[in-house]
Amino acid sequence: MTLNQQKVLLGITGSIAAYKTCELVRQLRQDGAQVQIVMTEAAKKFVSPMVLEALSGRPAREALFDRSAEMTMSHIELARWADLVLIAPASANCLARLAMGIADDLLSTICLATRAPVMIAPAMNTVMWEHPATQENVATLRRRGVTVLEPEIGEQACGEVGAGRMQEPEDLKEALLSLAVPQDLQGIQALVTAGPTRERIDPARFISNFSTGHMGCATADALLNRGAQVTLVCGPITLDPPEGAQVIHVTCADEMLQAVEQHGRECQLLIAAAAVADWRVRKSSADKIKKKDTPPTLALEPTADLLSAVATWDMRPYLVGFAAETEDLIENARAKLQAKGADLIVANLIGDNFGFGDVDSQLEVVSIDETHSIGPASKSMLARDLVEYIAARLGSPASIIDFNARAQHKNTSAG
Ligand code: CTP
Repeated sequence: MTLNQQKVLLGITGSIAAYKTCELVRQLRQDGAQVQIVMTEAAKKFVSPMVLEALSGRPAREALFDRSAEMTMSHIELARWADLVLIAPASANCLARLAMGIADDLLSTICLATRAPVMIAPAMNTVMWEHPATQENVATLRRRGVTVLEPEIGEQACGEVGAGRMQEPEDLKEALLSLAVPQDLQGIQALVTAGPTRERIDPARFISNFSTGHMGCATADALLNRGAQVTLVCGPITLDPPEGAQVIHVTCADEMLQAVEQHGRECQLLIAAAAVADWRVRKSSADKIKKKDTPPTLALEPTADLLSAVATWDMRPYLVGFAAETEDLIENARAKLQAKGADLIVANLIGDNFGFGDVDSQLEVVSIDETHSIGPASKSMLARDLVEYIAARLGSPASIIDFNARAQHKNTSAG
């Protein structure tokens, strides 16, 4: 087990043990984790943000009211981004503030706003650690589900001997693993389609739709997070695809189908989140159609339905489709489940001003036996819960392989 693709938010507070965090960051990164540093003012007196930025590969966050940093990722987004929050070292002051639920700096605010598991590695003078006030704060935090590690016993920077030393980076990494997102999709190859497609009219124009690729990219990210190997086939999007995915860029529905044909055969799981154009222009023009010409009538023809095509493969992956609907959400999703031969259809409502982009949404996951609601929440939270639901339905990786065998049987027996 590793921390591969786990998003670790590392809080650093004011303690001499902060110098050990450089080695901790190095080890977490070596294990494949993405590390976001959040430092308190006092922490900066013990370790340089610049060193930590170089080691983590991301700007360290310090202030709650930093407008430019908040524009990139707000404190709430940071809290949602994290799979794990580790505070190392945690000073006596930090423990007291967290126990009180104070939120007057970035780190304490994130701790209140996150749903991720929080682990704390205390470091302080032994008398401070043993003080009833500190021990009561530790008990309060543990009662609330926070993992407070025991500090090590030994000689301290202040000269005293006793409990209060921060655990070593290697031990902290091991402890984090016990809270990490389960790697239940390890060994699984997944293909995700994302974004819109563009169907050419002439060299300057195309038919497309409002899809931004947010849901597809978030889904790919959530799959990686649970240990899957991911191929992301995406239409034209402006988003950065998630780190760790094999990305194949396509433009039109035909290219998307070809990419799925080429890369999907080896997969055990296929999630079709792309908004594939349903029609293309029968005969696109080699030259630009001029405005002075009479307005053209575009003769359209249907594109191939990618999901339905994969459903007919002899050895097909577990198949998850999406359905963006303006009405009758669940009825339409059920109809698509049947018509396309998918195992799950993930339905969401869209309208003129909602449903597309980086906005909160709600999903209804329809299968033959149940309808499961997820959200409302941000697309990354929805994707996390969706992938957790899919992983639970699939069971262990071994049963996905079984599923393939069953699918093969089903398709050959269907003729
Ligand atoms: N899909 C596909 N190939 C297409 C069109 C859609 O694979 N040519 C997939 C989408 O990726 C999605 C699912 O089918 O997973 C449903 O797409 P949607 O656009 O909601 O449905 P359509 O089949 O296009 O039906 P309609 O537009 O009438 O709702």
